[in-house]
Amino acid sequence: MDIKENNIMLIGFMGSGKTTVSHELSRQMQIPEVDMDAYIVRHEGKSISDIFAESGEDVFREIETSCLKEIQKATGRIVSCGGGAVLRDENVECMKRNGVIVLLTAEPETIYKRVRYSTDRPILNGHMNVGYIKELMEKRKPRYMEVADIVIETDRKDISAVAGEIILKIGKFEKK
Ligand code: S3P
Repeated sequence: MDIKENNIMLIGFMGSGKTTVSHELSRQMQIPEVDMDAYIVRHEGKSISDIFAESGEDVFREIETSCLKEIQKATGRIVSCGGGAVLRDENVECMKRNGVIVLLTAEPETIYKRVRYSTDRPILNGHMNVGYIKELMEKRKPRYMEVADIVIETDRKDISAVAGEIILKIGKFEKK
């Protein structure tokens, strides 16, 4: 797969390490990165929490789809996607057209440790506990697994090892 003509789409549950891994991949591969949530915040001029609070999740999902389409107009980049971005078929089609989808996984306990102090994840508002994270993860897991081209476990691994594993697997990946 020619990275110049594709994007590396990092997907996975909130706190699976997409943003951190994206920074490291960008450093190791010397290619630019785009953070979808940060793109949305810039585009809308407000935080993710404010978009949810003022307009609701459905509007957020519409914004997410249109921002993804904009982002996918360019290639040769690493894109860290919001945790819910693959829930819509339309988004996955857009990602697959010029991208390889890399799923980062982590156990609910690991996720909890990483996100417990986060105040800008409205989906977890009032549900910041391992039980809820586990429940939502179980619901989303089949979807994450079915859309992923490459799956990488992140539990107990350091960031540079995770990035190294991704680079190795992408090197072997042939796009259909
Ligand atoms: C969401 C994940 C968030 C953000 C929004 C919704 C989700 O992104 O897009 O709060 O539905 O899983 P991160 O996965 O980067 O936290």
